[in-house]
Amino acid sequence: MSTSQALIVPFDPSAPSQAVAGVLPLQLWSLTPSGDKAPKAGATATFYNTPASKTTTISSVGDGFSSKASEVKRELVRKSVGAAVKELKAFEGVKEVVVDASLDPHAAAVAAHLALYKFTLKTNVPSPFDPRNAEPAGDKIAFAPVEASAEWDRGVVYAQSQNLARTLAEYPANMITPTAFTERVRREFEGIANVEIVVRDEAWAAEKGMNVFLSVTHGTSEPAKFLEIIYKGAADKTAAPLAFVGKGITFDSGGISLKPGAGMKLMRGDMGGAAAVVSAGLAIAKLQLPINLVVTTPLTENMPGPSATKPGDIIYAMNGKSVEVDNTDAEGRLVLSDAIYYTSTEYKPHTLIDVATLTHAMVFAVGEVFSGVISSSDELWQQLYEAGQLEHDRFWRMPMDDEYLPQIHGSNADLQNYGGLPAGSATAALFLKPFVAGLEEGEIKWAHLDIAGSMEVTRPGAYQEKGMTGRPVRALIEFARRLSN
Ligand code: BES
Ligand code: MN
Ligand code: ZN
Repeated sequence: MSTSQALIVPFDPSAPSQAVAGVLPLQLWSLTPSGDKAPKAGATATFYNTPASKTTTISSVGDGFSSKASEVKRELVRKSVGAAVKELKAFEGVKEVVVDASLDPHAAAVAAHLALYKFTLKTNVPSPFDPRNAEPAGDKIAFAPVEASAEWDRGVVYAQSQNLARTLAEYPANMITPTAFTERVRREFEGIANVEIVVRDEAWAAEKGMNVFLSVTHGTSEPAKFLEIIYKGAADKTAAPLAFVGKGITFDSGGISLKPGAGMKLMRGDMGGAAAVVSAGLAIAKLQLPINLVVTTPLTENMPGPSATKPGDIIYAMNGKSVEVDNTDAEGRLVLSDAIYYTSTEYKPHTLIDVATLTHAMVFAVGEVFSGVISSSDELWQQLYEAGQLEHDRFWRMPMDDEYLPQIHGSNADLQNYGGLPAGSATAALFLKPFVAGLEEGEIKWAHLDIAGSMEVTRPGAYQEKGMTGRPVRALIEFARRLSN
């Protein structure tokens, strides 16, 4: 083994010999004095000049691992591998890390690649994120499993896609404009089979009658874009697709209803929904899942320029409905309304899932732990729930009910874009509902994912630095994979 190589061995403290045998000398197997509690998941120990590798990090999966449910086990493996990677990241020389992924190859691959990720534009070391480099610098560490497997390989795709979503959300708004977003997406999809990418401009949107989307673009001089990704992986290329629609506000200042200055920079990530659906789409296409998928994202800044939309302005949407802009900071539902109507009429998907950093109310309700799901379909909710559990990219179902409708029906228009503080996430979803063509007729299933809370973590986790999360990319890929089976 080369000197730059290290080995990660997750181990079950109640049965360490199985994993650690052959890697460490016998006397090191037992990490705890007898009688003490077993080390928690993610407790690590690093050894040098071990028989198996120059450096070996063993990492606990916690007490009673073998008797836990499979979902729980997966998360313990992620924690264990993530902690080991975090430890090895600090070793300057380590370039290659071999992972004993035998406990769960998929989870191990995911955790390794998520834990390695660190966004930075500092210039003291070459940054893979430096936008000046045409050829970005590679990762600091390359991972390989002890034993190759399809599960490991698939896990790599899941994690790399999530990392792309993190990167897109993390980039400041001067670097990820709507134009830059679409260019990056084109590059990421280069050479992948069965994919068509179409980037629309404002003139196209005007022709389509997307006036509500366009109303958000009026306050900025940065050109808006409408991105469409069409992936045809199903045997029947004409079969109805799955559709993802992502909110793509590359910066949300609030517009004329300006946000307070403190913490406003978080709103560079207000395209987290667009980033998530594009990245999930990338994974689905890379894996060539046998499914048809269309991904659309309305992309614009929300700024208070001289031509900006004003509170009280009334605009006719693509579906003919009149919309009063009560608050220009409730811009997400504005861009999504036309995008959802266009996507549901143009592509006639069997299922449409929109993903958006939509409401502060969702941050209050579920914090950073869950992505909120609002859906009138129990079946779709159940499928999303299960995918979220498997990937530990979890969802919580939130209410939507017609009894909230008076909150958005009180103006001179059909709809107003703000329904007050009570149940703010529900009124946002209710606003979107009439734009899902075919919903009333039962021709389409719809779920609205509000990721305002889960877009960012404010403290480090076992396999995720603090910062943008790229959620719910893994849950969406897993959802599509299970659907395609
Ligand atoms: N992008 C924000 C929601 C948001 C807030 C996401 C915090 C992530 C973290 C959205 O456009 C917004 O501004 N919503 C407002 C609407 C209200 C002022 C009409 C909200 O929810 O407070
Ligand atoms: Mn806003
Ligand atoms: Zn917003």
